[in-house]
Amino acid sequence: MLVVDFGAQYAQLIARRVREAKVYSEIVPHTFTVEQMLAKDPAAIILSGGPSSVYATGAPFVDPALFEAGVPVMGICYGFQAMAKALGGEVAQTGLREYGGTEVEVCAAGVLLDGTPTNQTTWMSHGDAVHRAPEGFEVLATSSGSPVAAFEDRERRLYGVQWHPEVKHSAHGQTVLEHFLYDGAGLAPDWTPGNVIADQVAAIRAQVGDARVICALSGGVDSAVAAALVQRAVGDQLTCVHVDHGLMRAGEVEQIERDFVAATGVNLVIRDEKERFLTALAGHSDPETKRKIIGREFIRVFEDAARQIVEDAGEHGAEVKFLVQGTLYPDVVESGGGEGAANIKSHHNVGGLPDDLQFSLVEPLRTLFKDEVRAVGRELGVPEEIVARQPFPGPGLGIRIVGEVTADRLETLRAADAIAREELTKAGLDGEIWQCPVVLLADVRSVGVQGDGRTYGHPIVLRPVSSEDAMTADWTRLPYDVLSVISTRITNEVPEVNRVVLDVTSKPPGTIEWE
Ligand code: XMP
Repeated sequence: MLVVDFGAQYAQLIARRVREAKVYSEIVPHTFTVEQMLAKDPAAIILSGGPSSVYATGAPFVDPALFEAGVPVMGICYGFQAMAKALGGEVAQTGLREYGGTEVEVCAAGVLLDGTPTNQTTWMSHGDAVHRAPEGFEVLATSSGSPVAAFEDRERRLYGVQWHPEVKHSAHGQTVLEHFLYDGAGLAPDWTPGNVIADQVAAIRAQVGDARVICALSGGVDSAVAAALVQRAVGDQLTCVHVDHGLMRAGEVEQIERDFVAATGVNLVIRDEKERFLTALAGHSDPETKRKIIGREFIRVFEDAARQIVEDAGEHGAEVKFLVQGTLYPDVVESGGGEGAANIKSHHNVGGLPDDLQFSLVEPLRTLFKDEVRAVGRELGVPEEIVARQPFPGPGLGIRIVGEVTADRLETLRAADAIAREELTKAGLDGEIWQCPVVLLADVRSVGVQGDGRTYGHPIVLRPVSSEDAMTADWTRLPYDVLSVISTRITNEVPEVNRVVLDVTSKPPGTIEWE
């Protein structure tokens, strides 16, 4: 089904909730014409909320032809008002606003509100209100600011609510969405990880044929699941390359080498390039310079590995034509929902490979959100340690050493990071934390007293954050006893560290990483 985005931040949330109801959804911009929408052959359409008043100059509108196409449509908030206006209802500029938790009273349950209570709390955010429903519609609910807060025309399969059912604060929001999807539009809840895999496997086979495929495997969730999917589809035609830049955390390379290969059977080439990266990074402490060096070296090594694979493949006659990338749906939507890979935001990812690598892209995760990628990964048997992994930046520990990166400093940070991770996992806190950078302040020294004497060591910073998408974050309130164990263990077990400090800054103003 399609979610038509009227420009607020709600469209992605609606798409997610629809997928939680096991119905596949895609977002399209409101500038799509009715023909463009219908060309996608949607089984149902939701018109999202938006920031405008339907009376504002240049406000997006709905072409009434959409309602003639026989496709079930539901309008939400702005989409509800735009629908009412397009079909001849009355939308009034009352000047009265309803924001946040708002009580509505159900006057007729209909299809949408079936089984939900007569009085319910919904989440609203609007100025204008629908005062008269279009002809043929039954009014289902009212609120103090919205004489018509929900309506439906069962015959034409058109539905609408003034509130935001996709927001968790709307007490029965998911039920309302499911009523629309299952009962209003007759859709079945059959979009499951198993079906996603079956569809993607078929699509990858059709795209790739018998050509060879390569993939840069970072050890993160996205590239691992993308590789596992392609492996499922074309088996040995895929070769993965892991560039070991020496900036990974303890045990990560081994995990890829051993567990991932055992679980998926991929062909894996590991390039041990630790010395190369250390040499290139020597003498540099500016974060952006470090990022550039790591990115540059990564690309060189990858190109080299790819050349080698091409050469080897040459002997067997099959050409290497494709490169796997773990692009996710939010990246696609944020870059305008375009079809081509060209406008995908490149991110500051070390895995972001240059365009002049002469490969076509295979992007089997382009339609998925992160949690869906994890579900697909689990279904494919990718080890839990990889599937559940918290985000880890491409430049790795290279941007968690504030100062120059050296082999000794990497060893210190790796040891402290391993302790923090182990204790957080032991305390069952992984689910509450988006990620917890552990940072070595290599250019700062602090005085300590350890054993018999004074020491002059370095502080380690713990940066646990909670977040939905890393755009904003709050510092996670970890239990004091867990912090205490981590601090004691790090200062006891990691030479060079005599102090552990906690970062209690939200984002903004602080970024998640220190560099
Ligand atoms: P910041 O520090 O900008 O981080 O709040 C937001 C998210 O991005 C990750 N991050 C990076 N990821 N290469 C990456 O692949 C990078 O250079 C990089 N810098 C930050 C960070 O871990 C967080 O998840």
